[in-house]
Amino acid sequence: MDEHLITTINKLQDALAPLGGGSSSPIDLPQITVVGSQSSGKSSVLENIVGREFLPRGTGIVTRRPLILQLFNRRPARSASTNAHSDLLDLQTHDDKGQKTENNADEWGEFLHLPGKKFYNFDEIRQEIIKATDTTAGKNAGISPVPINLRIYSPHVLTLTLVDLPGLTKVPVGDQPVDIERQIRDMIMKFISKPNAIILAVNAANQDLANSDGLKLAREVDPEGIRTIGVLTKVDLMDQGTDVIDILAGRVIPLRGGYVPVINRGQKDIENHKTIRAALADEAKFFENHPSYSTKAQYCGTPYLAKKLNVILLSHIRATLPDIRAKIDTALKKYQNELVSLGPETIDSPSSTVLSVITDFCNDYNGVLDGHTKDISSNEL
Ligand code: GDP
Ligand code: NA
Ligand code: MG
Repeated sequence: MDEHLITTINKLQDALAPLGGGSSSPIDLPQITVVGSQSSGKSSVLENIVGREFLPRGTGIVTRRPLILQLFNRRPARSASTNAHSDLLDLQTHDDKGQKTENNADEWGEFLHLPGKKFYNFDEIRQEIIKATDTTAGKNAGISPVPINLRIYSPHVLTLTLVDLPGLTKVPVGDQPVDIERQIRDMIMKFISKPNAIILAVNAANQDLANSDGLKLAREVDPEGIRTIGVLTKVDLMDQGTDVIDILAGRVIPLRGGYVPVINRGQKDIENHKTIRAALADEAKFFENHPSYSTKAQYCGTPYLAKKLNVILLSHIRATLPDIRAKIDTALKKYQNELVSLGPETIDSPSSTVLSVITDFCNDYNGVLDGHTKDISSNEL
């Protein structure tokens, strides 16, 4: 991953936020959204991408409200290190840091429904998600379309939104409505029909791909598969002698963005508090030592999924760069005119600071634009 580009994008998002008029950032990065059957491993995949443990996971219907997770890159308060690089998608190194900074004052979560309360402990974040789910959707397997909004501030993330959704299910249980299937479907469609959504269509490798609910929905909103990535979980649970090679080769249901096989932590691993770091190491070992995957191990596993996401993010950024440049030019002109009208004695006024910040970013940004074609081609998979 081109760390310089990500750092610059993060800086640009910070600097241009006031120009966007509220919440709309000029660099509107895609929302990464998971879709698939219940217990296919959606929450596990998202958690691995972020590299921190805070999502409720488990057998049965655990995710019962949409969770809109906004990550905000934030430089450390007293930053000795100016390398505020993002390793959101650089999982191995991130997990190292993640383990060490478990209750670090530089990383915290905040819920929209609990304004001003900062959660420094990620276990407490998980507890609050469970509590907020019970409060709105009841304790007995009920669902609710009302999202939980969680923001995570950290020097180790890319400013980006991830969405965790309930899985598709057909037969109502507990307090679920009779039309549970339609309700969950509507909930999912609302998120994945946004042209800005990257869809991770999650399917357990020990389930038939032809019946994949996630793929079916993804195809409805993205028939050409431009913004869909297939994720095959539970490869470790496949019957002996079977593998996903035909799927990867596009011989089952071809997908333009391809498929990535991954192995998340199983229920036992979760109960035994296996770390993300240990899980990633075991995942790599599994693919490297497996007769079906050993020659293609570099295209398997969570780190490769992260790389694929990076490529999509980069091409999205490339597509939006001209628009951002226009916005910067407009803002520059506006501030320059303001400055002129204020006269020479205002040289140390806040306006001139704003101007110099924007000028700096213009320079930085032009560098990115110039070097960008190179980044993309060298990262193409
Ligand atoms: P979701 O309902 O789609 O969000 O799925 P979860 O992430 O909650 O996972 C459901 C269950 O499957 C949990 O018990 C996970 O531990 C387990 N699980 C998820 N992915 C894998 C995997 O790749 N291998 C194994 N063995 N178990 C997994
Ligand atoms: Na589940
Ligand atoms: Mg879930």
